[in-house]
Amino acid sequence: MKKILPYAIFLTFLTGLFAGQLSANAEGSVVIQKVIKDLVIYEESTTNSAEIGKVSKGTYVNVTQASKGWTHIQTSDQTGYVTSDGLVKLKSEGYLVIQKGGTTLFKAPSQNAQQVGKLYEGRVIYVYGTAPGGWSFIQYGEDTGYVATNALKKPVPTKKQINAEAGTELRLTASPNGEVLGTLANKTIVQYYITLAGWAYIEAGDQKGYVKASELANIQLTDNKVYNKGVPVAKGAKKRVALTFDDGPNAKVTPQILATLKKYDAKATFFMVGKNVSRNATLVNQVYAAGHEIGNHTFDHKKLTTLSIAGVKQEVNGTSNAIYAAIGQYPTVFRPPYGAMNDQVRSVMTIPSILWSIDTLDWKHHNADKILAYVKASVKDGSIILMHDIHQTTANGLENVILYLQKQGYEFVTVSEILQ
Ligand code: NI
Repeated sequence: MKKILPYAIFLTFLTGLFAGQLSANAEGSVVIQKVIKDLVIYEESTTNSAEIGKVSKGTYVNVTQASKGWTHIQTSDQTGYVTSDGLVKLKSEGYLVIQKGGTTLFKAPSQNAQQVGKLYEGRVIYVYGTAPGGWSFIQYGEDTGYVATNALKKPVPTKKQINAEAGTELRLTASPNGEVLGTLANKTIVQYYITLAGWAYIEAGDQKGYVKASELANIQLTDNKVYNKGVPVAKGAKKRVALTFDDGPNAKVTPQILATLKKYDAKATFFMVGKNVSRNATLVNQVYAAGHEIGNHTFDHKKLTTLSIAGVKQEVNGTSNAIYAAIGQYPTVFRPPYGAMNDQVRSVMTIPSILWSIDTLDWKHHNADKILAYVKASVKDGSIILMHDIHQTTANGLENVILYLQKQGYEFVTVSEILQ
């Protein structure tokens, strides 16, 4: 996520954008469709009425009403009826404006076209599709038009779940006065994008809007199974890997890793050692606030299979409490030091224990280039990759690992996400 706008502009845009966008949807007044063959625009819904003009294949139009095979449309300069078989419905996707200083919304896909307005950096807009020449057709509030595609970026959502016994209200705007669009039940899994002044913008199925950020939590698997790889994605979906970083947080290395992950919008999981959590509470908060998952890696990095059950509980619970003290949430996953598990250790766990598919051996070779070599040798969809955010060489090698995986078509998700 990029810089947030000054607060005042920000609220104005929220109100403008989401009031327009969603109430319009509720009233059916802003519906975008795409023209799939050249069409004649008629004054009335009959071929016997006057021809107003033409609209060509590939044009995006605003649909105001449809019945009996005719659709009333608005283009950037014409209004009238066309036959409905020449239109297709479109789904929109939320994108962030990333252009420094904002970008211009045009009526037509050209720098010379009439300007509709300005879109500020950090805004969430809806993209319906593209047009030749590097343009995207977008909706922002009640405005529609074209912006340069390279001014936009698809934010990588994180899966979260509703954490409110009675469910939570989904609102049109980021405000307690925002129109209520519906209620999302407790434990509903949502795609979370960005938090704005205590309100989280989420998508759940066809529903989009704001919920209170405090009523959203990380997905919590409550089994105590042991996993060493993720669930393969459905056919056609993007391959996934889970980058994991153990033994931190480390005041010097962890911030560098966070910066690299942020640069590529990559989400990761940090298995933290309890004694380091207590010392670096601010850093733990930064990791959490950046959308990464936080896991438990014992308090003193002990080999749990050598401890009594009371000793195991002390190591595990001490860390969970330290993490809760730092971020107000308990860790969602556990990783045993050295991968050492047995039935006694498992009996203590109420969250999944996560091993790994690829050990980069970064702790052993301290060689930034070798990390990528180990990843290249065995990465596949669902891989869980083990690294450590306490070695400078790991921070140095991370960017090349991400660049390689990104080029291979991988998406970077948290451990809990890759398990479902
Ligand atoms: Ni470790």
